[in-house]
Parts: sequence; structure tokens; C-alpha cells
Amino acid sequence: MDIEKIISQMTVEEKLKLLVGVGLPGMFGNKSSRVPGAAGETHQIERLKIPSTVHADGPAGLRIDPERENDSNKYHATAFPIASMLASSWNKEILFEVGKAMGNEAKEYGVDFLLAPAINIHRNPLCGRNFEYYSEDPILTGELASAFVEGVQSEGIGTSLKHFAANNQETNRMKIDTIVSERALREIYLKGFEIVVKKAKPWTVMSAYNKLNGKYCSQNKWLLTKVLREEWGFEGFVMSDWFAGDNPVEQIKAGNDLIMPGKTYNVFKDRKDEIKELKQAYEKGEITDDIINERVRTILNILMKTPSFKGYKYSNAPDFEKHARISYNAASEGVVLLKNNDVLPFSADAKVSIFGTGQIETVKGGFGSGDTHPRYTISIFEGFKEKGVKVDEKIGNFYKEKVFELRNGNYRPNYVNEFNLKIPPKLPEDILDESMIDEASETNDLAIIVISRISGEFVDRRAVKGDYYLSDDEQKLIENVSKKFHSKGKKVIVLLNIGGPIEIASWIELVDGLLLIWQPGQEAGRVVADVCLGTVNPSGKLPTTFPKDYQDIPSKSFPGKPVENPLEVVYEEDIYVGYRYYDTFQIDPLFEFGYGLSYTKFDYKNLIVKHDDENIEICFEIENSGNVEGKEIAQVYVKAPKARLDKPFQELKGFYKTKMLKPGEKEEISIKIALRDLTSFCKDKWVLEEGEYRIRVGASSRDIRLEEKVFLKEKVFNL
Ligand code: BGC
Repeated sequence: MDIEKIISQMTVEEKLKLLVGVGLPGMFGNKSSRVPGAAGETHQIERLKIPSTVHADGPAGLRIDPERENDSNKYHATAFPIASMLASSWNKEILFEVGKAMGNEAKEYGVDFLLAPAINIHRNPLCGRNFEYYSEDPILTGELASAFVEGVQSEGIGTSLKHFAANNQETNRMKIDTIVSERALREIYLKGFEIVVKKAKPWTVMSAYNKLNGKYCSQNKWLLTKVLREEWGFEGFVMSDWFAGDNPVEQIKAGNDLIMPGKTYNVFKDRKDEIKELKQAYEKGEITDDIINERVRTILNILMKTPSFKGYKYSNAPDFEKHARISYNAASEGVVLLKNNDVLPFSADAKVSIFGTGQIETVKGGFGSGDTHPRYTISIFEGFKEKGVKVDEKIGNFYKEKVFELRNGNYRPNYVNEFNLKIPPKLPEDILDESMIDEASETNDLAIIVISRISGEFVDRRAVKGDYYLSDDEQKLIENVSKKFHSKGKKVIVLLNIGGPIEIASWIELVDGLLLIWQPGQEAGRVVADVCLGTVNPSGKLPTTFPKDYQDIPSKSFPGKPVENPLEVVYEEDIYVGYRYYDTFQIDPLFEFGYGLSYTKFDYKNLIVKHDDENIEICFEIENSGNVEGKEIAQVYVKAPKARLDKPFQELKGFYKTKMLKPGEKEEISIKIALRDLTSFCKDKWVLEEGEYRIRVGASSRDIRLEEKVFLKEKVFNL
């Protein structure tokens, strides 16, 4: 297609239509999308044979409505593990496979753009959408999200890298002004985006709701034009987050090509039709033909590649069996074993009683646009039964009936906002009689307790009981079960079915095993049972620190001030986010970044570090020195010399997940790191300060196994 020719044939009205979405489909009286449940569409321009394109969420799987009016067919999509769990796999191949499967489902359902991945940094554990995001570290985020983008786009479907940038909370997300230094932005909050844009070339980027240093991201020329396009070479189009910003003219001028979903006046009554506003600005000469043509060109360049443009005949029948296996594999690589006093794995003959409502209502993922509608979610109770574990059916069935009763009584999901968002209230955990726990501890060999949390879009989590802290009834359940089982010499395991850190330090001594199963998607119960039985050896490691207490976290200003209605949040911890803070200021976390146990052991050997003018190369060996097969995640941290600039104690610069190693088997590993990636940001340059760099290879950020030094000369790189 000759884009210039099309542009020359378009009227201004047609061009402006292409810069604004059709309005939120199926709501506020707008026509439903041709793929019901999709979040947006671009305008069709029939005269010029430009079809509409369909945009749908999201990070844990394609989010579309499973049911359609007057249609008995179902339109489910696979639920994959949440992004924080995908990140716990540290496995690029898995991320590629998951992306490819989601891209394929999008394609087979007639969707052109998957509104994912979401890669904001875990600045504070209470951000309600952290589950959709990868990590507190930008390198891990950037590398894994690149693989995901490559996977989706290998299917000929576009991604939308979001939310650009520094959108690290839900509280007042549409007006909060994030105040952050340029160094922290460049090194922490933009870094992941930079990596993905350069490596994987996402078709689109989604600008964030918040303001960044005083200007809405969607109206921020520095961000969208200077940094994203001029410095990083981004060639796709930028779309706004849904109803973001307050001025469409500014958006178009700043480099926000597409305004989504369109018809902002549906939600904000003081707003006007964007197309009309743009037309008026054009007539007044505030936006020029050149700008409009440039935005249209950028959008058309990408639209041309979409299945809709190519007239792809979609099947509405993705290969669910294959994708379920990919979801299972991804989840099984993301489970993190946090504590194990000789309790895991347990034998298939063991009699097990499971406590907690989460065994029935296992949380597969969070709510809001990161939600999914799969064909099924295998609960922990079902998964254990399916895998032949001898579960205490009396206890399990009691929970099943009770959960049903509560959810149909006082604990029905309630509606909270204009988007009909359903949030299920937290279920009570004091529903079991002590005598039942007593009896269970007589008849079973061990106990499992499930602790579940759900969070999502629109609301942040809170540092209160029942959220960041255990509720009183959860605390009591753990105490009672542990007391009864321990008094009979039997052990207790807690499964953490959560989307982000909770407080654990005060009760960890009560239990013998702790398994972080995250929110693992539709295959939940199967994965958890296989890990517990040892069919799967856990190989995930933490992409985010679990502090001892909320008081220890550095981002004290979260979620901003004034407290009752925050309008500004100052990132005063600057570059000291996550482990960069805990390590530099010597605060011991409960579980450090990069931590995770295995059922086997690994030895690290023979470190050799070489370097030339461009790269350093780090070679070493890992050997499985335990008794069962397993995979290890090796991490390379670099401690830069302290010269003129402040530096964190150390930073992750590379990582590698081994293949499945049999007992006694070794793998030789070589990791290359560009010198440019060892720099710090200083006044519009990336600076490698001269001095001794310590190369620290470890099994976690605080379990360094090998160390070498290299001396590097000063080098300065342009942006
Ligand atoms: C979210 C985006 C999402 C969009 C469309 C917004 O509320 O912030 O992540 O892609 O809605 O559903």
C-alpha cells in the first residue's frame, strides 16, 4: 500500500478520525466491538479501504467477553500466570512462548493489538496493579518483556508497551503528578521501556495516565518525542491510556498519535468530542498539516501490518490444549520455594488436609483490565485430587460448601464503578471449628494452608490487616493448625496465592514450608500439586524483594500528598528502588531480590571475566550437586566504583537460567554485558566512571558465589 498516496487522498476529517478511537465499545451507548469485550477500535475509512482495527487487553491473556448475545458459542481465552509470576521464571523462552500463544489467541479471535505487556516498576508493594508488572528491576523487566513482545508479534499481532511512564500507583492515577529526578527516570523507570523499544520494536507504546514532572505523559513532548523517538528510535505509534490527559490538541502535538478509546466526554462530562476539538485547533492553525500527516503516516504504517488490514480470516478456535500446556509450563517455572524445613516435596502417599478458602476459590489473577475469562481455573483442591494426592475430602468439601454459601450470601462480588467492575469481598477464614482441625490433625500426615489475596485496577492495596498483613482470622488459622499438627509431630506448609508481597516475618516460624504460588492462571491447582509432589522442581526466583515489614520500604511518599486526595507524589528515594535500597542502606529484607530455593543444590565454579573496548564477558560453570534434576537461575550483579556519582551497592546486569540439569550435570555459561550498560546517567550522558568493577555472580542478590574484579577506564556515551 502506498501510504503517501492514501494520505494525499484523505480529507482532514478523515485524517483526524484516524487519530481518535471510536469510543469505549459496548458502553455509554456505543456500539459493541466486532470482538465483544475488546477495549477499543480505530475508525474505519471505507472510501479508502482502511478497516477498523481491534484492541484488547491484556497482560495475563486476551481479555474478551466469553459470551455473546444470541450466540451459544463461547469465546474463552487462556489465563496465563500474572506478569510477576512470569518474571519469577527468569526464562526468556517461556516469555516468548506465552507471548506467542496470547498473540495467536488474539489473531484467531480477530484482535489486532494486544494491550500488553505492562512493565511499570514495582516501586512500592502496595500498587494495586503490581501483579500486571514484572519486577522492581528494569533489566529483568526489559529482557523478559522483550521476549514477550517478540512472541506476540511473531504472530503478526501488535503489542502495546504500557504504561509509559512512571505509573506506579492506582490512587488518583488520572491526575497524580509524579515528581522524579531525571537520573531515577533514566536508570529505573524508563530503562525497561528503553530495552524493549530497542530490542523488540513493539508496534505501539501506551502513554500513562499520570503527569510526569508536571505534564501529563500523554501530553509530554519530552517523553513521547525526544526520548522515545529521537533518542531510542521508536517507529511505532503511541496511543493514550483510556481517557487519559486533559487536552487532545496537546496530545497530538506532543507525539501521542492515537487518542483512546475516543469520546472522552462519555466519562468526563466537561470534555468535548476530540475530533471536533482537533478540527477547531487545525482551523486556528494550532496544529499543522505536517503534524497531522506525520501522525497519520505513523499510524497507517503499523495498521497496514494488522490482520484486519490483510483481511485475515480468523477461526474463533485457538488451540486451547496447546496454550493450556504453555500456561502450565510458565506457572511451573514461576513458583518460588521460600522456606523448606524438610517438608517438600511430600510423598504421593501422604494424607493431606488443606485449609483456607483459597483452596476452593484459588485466585488465578487480578481484576480490571489485567483479568481474563478462561474456560476453567483448576482450584488447589481440585488440582490435588486430580493428581492423586490423598486429600482430606471432609475438610475440602466443607470449604467448598461454605464458599458457595458465602458467595451467594453476604460476600457477593459488589459493583464499584462505572465500568461495572466486580470486586469480590475477602472471605472470612474463621469458618472451621477447632474440633475439625483437631480431627484433621489426627487423621492426616500434614497440613497445607492457603493464603490468598486479590488486587487490581483502580485501587491500591493497603498496609492493613487482611491485605499487606494477615487478617486476625488468617493468623488464628495458621496458629491453630500449626499447634495441632506440630503437637503430633506433623508439618505445615503455607501456599501464598498472592499478587505481591505480604508481611510474613512475624509468622514464618509457625510453619515448616512456604511456597509462593503467585496468581498462577488457569492451571493453578495442577501446577501446585506437581510442585508439592516433586514432579516439578521449583525453579522460580523473586523478581521483587519481600521486606520484613512495610515500615522498611523506601518509597515512604506512596501514594502521595495530600493524604486524603494525593495530587503529587515525590520519588524521594530516587534511584534506590527495591534491592538497590536494601543493599546500599544495609536493611535486611525477609527474602531478597533473586531469592528462591530448589529441591536440589547447585555449585558455581571457574569464573573468568574478560573485557574489550565494548563488552565484558563473564564465563562460569554451574553443576547440579544435589540428588534430583533441576534448573538454576544465575545472576550477575556489578558493583561499580564510587567516584563522583552516588551508586547503588550493586545492580543486576545479566542473568541466565540453565537447562534442566540432571544430578552431577554441568552447564558452561557465558554472559556478555556491554560497557554502555554499566554506566550511570549524568547530565545528558551515560558515564562509565573509571575504577574497579566487581563482578558478582550469585544464586540471589545476597548469595554471591563467585567474584572477580576488572579495572575499566572512563568512557562517556551519548543518549
Ligand atoms: C488501563 C490499561 C488498559 C486500558 C484498556 C486502562 O484503564 O490502564 O492498561 O489497557 O484501560 O482496557
